[in-house]
Amino acid sequence: MAASEEALMWVEKYRPKTLDEVVGLKDIVESLKAFMRNPKTMPHLMFAGVPGTGKTTLALAIAHTLYGANWKSFTLELNASDERGIDTVRDRIKDFSRYSRTGFGGDIPFALIILDECDQMTGPAQTALRRIMEVGSRTSRFILICNQSSKIIEPIQSRCAIFRFSRVEKQAMKDHLICIAKNEGYTLVPEAAERIVDFSEGDLRHAINSLQTASAYKEGVIDEKTVALVIGEASPMLVQKMIRKALYGDFMEARKTMYDIMGSFGFSGTEIIRQIQREIFKMSDLTPTQKAELSGVIGEYDFRLTEGANSDIQLSALLAQFAKFGKGIEENYAEAK
Ligand SMILES: Nc1ncnc2c1ncn2[C@@H]1O[C@H](COP(=O)(O)OP(=O)(O)OP(=O)(O)O)[C@@H](O)[C@H]1O
Ligand SMILES: [Mg+2]
Repeated sequence: MAASEEALMWVEKYRPKTLDEVVGLKDIVESLKAFMRNPKTMPHLMFAGVPGTGKTTLALAIAHTLYGANWKSFTLELNASDERGIDTVRDRIKDFSRYSRTGFGGDIPFALIILDECDQMTGPAQTALRRIMEVGSRTSRFILICNQSSKIIEPIQSRCAIFRFSRVEKQAMKDHLICIAKNEGYTLVPEAAERIVDFSEGDLRHAINSLQTASAYKEGVIDEKTVALVIGEASPMLVQKMIRKALYGDFMEARKTMYDIMGSFGFSGTEIIRQIQREIFKMSDLTPTQKAELSGVIGEYDFRLTEGANSDIQLSALLAQFAKFGKGIEENYAEAK
């Protein structure tokens, strides 16, 4: 990617440079700061967890903190799953150690090697990495990054202090999005921020990207509707309302809500059906068996739509099926009593 293009990406523009700027992750940041106060005590580190939560960001922030502006001279960033193989990785680490040993930054007695995507490495490659770490330990500290630590062989795990990154906390994410929007000259409505946060499931990268896409739709204010367009989802509340109305006997009202959703969000029948499917599984008032049965019905209508049937008619028919199904639920209750 060209440098200018990168600068336009908010995820890069707002990538924290220091540990203090990182959003959430309080415990992890505190432990890392303790190592930074006395870098000689820093062990090899492993960052494991959910995508887009700050693993690479923190590794780079550590490099900044240790070496200052000159950090690039003392930091080697590699993709461990490089398709050219572990030998290439080993050669690059060897070259780097040789060179970096000749002039460490200040009183930091080691260079930093950041290895991303370690969980994509094969078993033999991991065994080779273990050797590389053993040989390089005197002159280097490793930060291994992966999504699942369970995919890393035990001897490597036991050489590292493992930090587990869980989803970024919702409120912190929301505040961060509002702050970025403001800085870019937009007002992000709180409800819209919540929708992005909910949809991103703790992945801050995804959230910031969604925000940036939403900003391209409209100048000034980013509201719920704009966000809905970006994430391809109508308001979950509204969709659930439609489902409940159908199930609990108000077919005409359900159909009206369906037209509201189609009209105000401009989604296709297929998009709405897919969302109905997602929402069904979130509804706590349905049993797993009922969810499975409804899912079967939804599948049938989804198929018809992909075959080119008319959206309005098929969605109405789906809601009618829901109404019929809902009646069955009530009758079963009545019989059971
Ligand atoms: N905790 C965080 N604080 C601030 N910004 C964050 C945080 N986590 C992610 N981001 C934002 O998301 C972008 C991507 O984060 P990062 O590259 O650190 O994710 P990652 O955890 O390494 O993900 P992956 O597992 O996909 O490599 C950053 O550039 C930054 O803009
Ligand atoms: Mg990363």
